[in-house]
Amino acid sequence: MRLLGMDAYKAVVEKRDKREFDSRPIPEEILVKIMQATRMAGSGKNRQTGRVVVVTNQEGRESVAASGDFGDWINQASVALVFAIHSDGGLRPDFDIGRMAQNAMIVANSEGLYSCPMTVYRQQELKTALGIPDEYDVPMVVGMGFPAGGSKKSKSHPRIPLEDMVYRETWQDGLV
Ligand SMILES: Cc1cc2nc3c(=O)[nH]c(=O)nc-3n(C[C@H](O)[C@H](O)[C@H](O)COP(=O)(O)O)c2cc1C
Repeated sequence: MRLLGMDAYKAVVEKRDKREFDSRPIPEEILVKIMQATRMAGSGKNRQTGRVVVVTNQEGRESVAASGDFGDWINQASVALVFAIHSDGGLRPDFDIGRMAQNAMIVANSEGLYSCPMTVYRQQELKTALGIPDEYDVPMVVGMGFPAGGSKKSKSHPRIPLEDMVYRETWQDGLV
């Protein structure tokens, strides 16, 4: 199966969270494609209470970076996607937002963009800076942009082996 320009499996398994960007803006057509993929994520009871603020201006990105504890790199990202979910958004709002964010990052990867999540530690400050209504939570941001040319590769963290993660039928038997 092909996802845009890249095999879907490859776009998923080769995705790494990278934080070194150059200053090229993301073309509108690619941005809209990424947002379409985000929009299509399923949600609990199909309530669709997730929203996204696409922040590109420097002042906005500075506010986003300041709302995290590990997000200075957002200042270099071309775009910060601020994921908002209604506080009455359902049983599993983190799951809903996670699906939206992963869709965005996988399609971004298939378009040759780097991306990484950022945890928001100061939600109220971020909501005030971006005019986000009180009834929304803003737990996560995704920063993205084109890879910095010649930048050092950020360390990729190994994943645990399949046999340590996946069991078959009961916890006692491994998949492989
Ligand atoms: C829920 C969640 C929160 C994260 N928060 C941050 C963050 O605040 N800042 C950051 O630089 N990376 C953040 N990350 C990225 C993780 O550090 C990254 O997914 C992990 O180290 C694997 O990196 P790799 O794909 O490059 O191997 C977050 C990831 C997740 C899933």
